Parts: sequence; structure tokens; C-alpha cells
Amino acid sequence: MSVTDAAYQKCINPDCGAEFDSAQTLFRCPKCGELLDIQYNWDKIEVPKKLSEFAQRWGSRNNRLDFSGVWRFRELLNFCEDKYKVTIGEGQTILQQSDAVARYADMQPGRLYLQYEGLNPSGSFKDNGMAAAFSHAIMVDAKSCACASTGNTSASMALYAHSCGLKSTVFIGSGRIAFGKLSQAMDYGAQTIQIRGDFDDCMRQVQDVCAKLGLYLLNSLNPFRLEGQKTIMYRIIEGLGWEVPDWIVVPGGNLGNSSAFGKAFYELNQLGLIERIPRMAIINATGASTLFDLVNDKKLTWNNGRVNRKIIDDYYAGLTARNFSPHTCASAIEISRPVNLKKCLRAIDVTKGVVRKVPDEEILDAKAIVGKYGLGCEPASAATIAGLRHLRAEGIIGTDEKVACVLTGHPLKDPNITVNYHKDRQGQFSNPPIEAPNDLDEIIKLIK
Ligand code: F0G
Repeated sequence: MSVTDAAYQKCINPDCGAEFDSAQTLFRCPKCGELLDIQYNWDKIEVPKKLSEFAQRWGSRNNRLDFSGVWRFRELLNFCEDKYKVTIGEGQTILQQSDAVARYADMQPGRLYLQYEGLNPSGSFKDNGMAAAFSHAIMVDAKSCACASTGNTSASMALYAHSCGLKSTVFIGSGRIAFGKLSQAMDYGAQTIQIRGDFDDCMRQVQDVCAKLGLYLLNSLNPFRLEGQKTIMYRIIEGLGWEVPDWIVVPGGNLGNSSAFGKAFYELNQLGLIERIPRMAIINATGASTLFDLVNDKKLTWNNGRVNRKIIDDYYAGLTARNFSPHTCASAIEISRPVNLKKCLRAIDVTKGVVRKVPDEEILDAKAIVGKYGLGCEPASAATIAGLRHLRAEGIIGTDEKVACVLTGHPLKDPNITVNYHKDRQGQFSNPPIEAPNDLDEIIKLIK
């Protein structure tokens, strides 16, 4: 048996359900246009009997696949042979318990955990997904790749592309990307194309460009990306001594993470590796609240895969009629037509999930708290803490429940937002620099 016999691609539309070999390069179902999933023939895979068995790999970290925080869990994403597996040391990330941030979110001590995905090589969670998707790209012998991005995807793709010897092109919306991220795409050698439009415009264009030129697409539309992102949940469980938390809180943009997390828990439960599926809270920014609007206002649900398309079409037609373009300081999640919407609805179904939206001011204050008491994060990541406060105030999350917030990106991704927040006293926790004359006595007077 070759490893690819163990995995295949399958359309998520239950009325289609078409299946394809995992060695094919497809980004949507060629029969009906729906999203594709990676599915496994679990009876052909030797999965450990207990999740804690994965801990043994810490002892063999000189093996590159055991060192990787993605491939350490390789039996749970077994779609290619080891020789194709790409790693640049992703997934060495920390789950930090933080009582100071817990206090801010009105949680009891010992109950709040922060999963720092900003500690990945390119500074965001995307590296988990790229390790998996680039392995598929190598398996299918891709030579050139592309993505649309609000910044982190482009940084991560560019880094993996040059590590694997692929050419890469990134599409970003003019003026819609944080400087740290733009600097990475250029520095890592990607061809960077700034489109006069927003992320949703770039996403539309990149799909057509990839189809026309045969480029390998690395957005989360690529189902192999989501397989890599499942491992963030495995590492949270690992960090909690192989126990599941009560809640996962994650920012929602293109909805790849939330989709991947739901799939991860569904599979672990199916395999008997966890007994209970945690609940998931997905947090939008108020200025980019498609998921919130569709789920909470329009009552859109997964409905066993038969999602009410008319609700989505009408909502998008409304956005077009208003000439709407999303706006938030959390530029990473400034997205109004999330491509993984349906998979995310499935994840909400699996995890009894909830969706909330938070205004920019609350995101910025929460970000300052993570900076002051933790390791820091970029604005989109802090939406989780702001969202958790809402869910606490509503009593949906209890003060003593165990909560893991996924901090998706590094604080240095977006230095302008941080500097302006402090310097211009934009929020409750601003900590501006103090001007001082070049005089010892005057300087000493200023030291508190
Ligand atoms: N947080 C950060 C830091 C991100 O960069 C993104 C997405 C998200 C959250 C949202 O995750 O799309 O899985 O819901 N950034 C993409 C990009 C869109 O192009 O870098 P999602």
C-alpha cells in the first residue's frame, strides 16, 4: 500500500460527494465547485491508541519530522510519504497559562491559556498549514505557487517557497497589509503584486490566475493547508497534559483555522482519542463581520451539508449593492467573503460553536493586555481576548471553565498599530514614551 491509498480528497457537498486521489491538484470540486476535504481510510493507518503516545517523539527530536510540531502528529494527517514532507521547524509554540490576562477577561486563576502561534518561523500560525500544503506541492511536483493574502499567508508561503525551491507570487490589497508582513514577503523573495482592491478582490483574482497559469494555490481553500492547521489543537491538548479544554477561542477571517479545528476534534473523537469535543468561539471584528451576521442574524447553519445558499447569496448581493469593503485595525481578518464559510459552519455544528464580533477599540485594549502581561500578539489575535470578555459577560463561558485562546500572530507583525496605540494614547492601557531633555537631573526626576 502506498501512503496515498490512506488518504483521498472528497467534496463536502453531500449531494455530490465526489472523491479524488490525494495526488491530484484541485482546489474545488471539479464536478460541483464546492470545497474539498482530505479524508482518511483510518483502517489503513497505524494511529496511536492514546494521544499521549505522541509524547515519545520529544525524545527523538534530531529526526526532522519528530522535531516538527506538525509532523510529530503525522499519523493524523497521513496524506503523503515521508520523503515529500516539508518542514522548516514549524510548530514549536507555547501554551502559556496567564492569570493576569485571565483577570482582565474575568476568568478564575489557572483557567486561561494562550496558544502563541506567533512563535512559528514566519511569525504566524500559517506555517502549520504551509508545512502540509508544501508537502503536497512537492508530491505533485509543483514549480510555482501563489496566494492572496492579508499578509501572514504571503509571508509564510514566501518562506516555504524559497526553502523548497518554488517560485512564489503574492497578491495583496494596496494599503491593506501590515508592514511587518509586507517586509517578509519581499525579503523572502516573493513577487509581490499589490492589487487596487481588498483581500476579497485578491482572492478572486488569484483563483483565476492559478487556474489560467497552472500555479499551485496556497490559500486555505487548499484542503492540505487545513490538515497542517489541525495540529494547533493537538498541541493545545498536549500542553494541557493530553486533556481537552472546555473552550477554544479563535479569530475568524477566511475561516481556515476554525474549519481545521472542528475537523481535528471530529476526527479525534471518531478515533476514540478524545471523549469530549470542546466548544469553539469564533471572533470577528465588527468591521468585517460576515460570519457573525450570517450565523446570528440570518440563522445560517450547516444543516448536514445542505447549507441555505440563498441566504449567503442575498447577503453578498447586499454587500455588493452597498459597495461594501471591510475595515478593521485587525487587518489580518479584514475579509467579507470568507472562502471556508461552509466548512466553518460544519465546525460550529461539531463544536456547538458560537460567533461574536468585537470593535477595534476593544481589540486594541486586549492586545495591550497580552503585551503587558504575556508575550504579545498582533491585533487579529487579540480579538480572542476581547471576544472572551463578551462571552464571560453574557455568562456563556463560565469563570471556571478551561479556555485556550489561539494567538495567531506575532506582535512585531504590525508595529505601527502598537506604536500608534501607545504614542497617541488611543486606549486604556497606552504607555507612551516620555520626552526628556538631555540632562541627568531632569532624566532622574522622570524615573518612576
Ligand atoms: N489571525 C491572523 C494573524 C491571520 O493572519 C489570519 C488570517 C487570521 C487570524 C484568520 O484566520 O483565515 O483561518 O480565519 N490571515 C490570512 C492571510 C487571511 O492572508 O494572512 P482564518
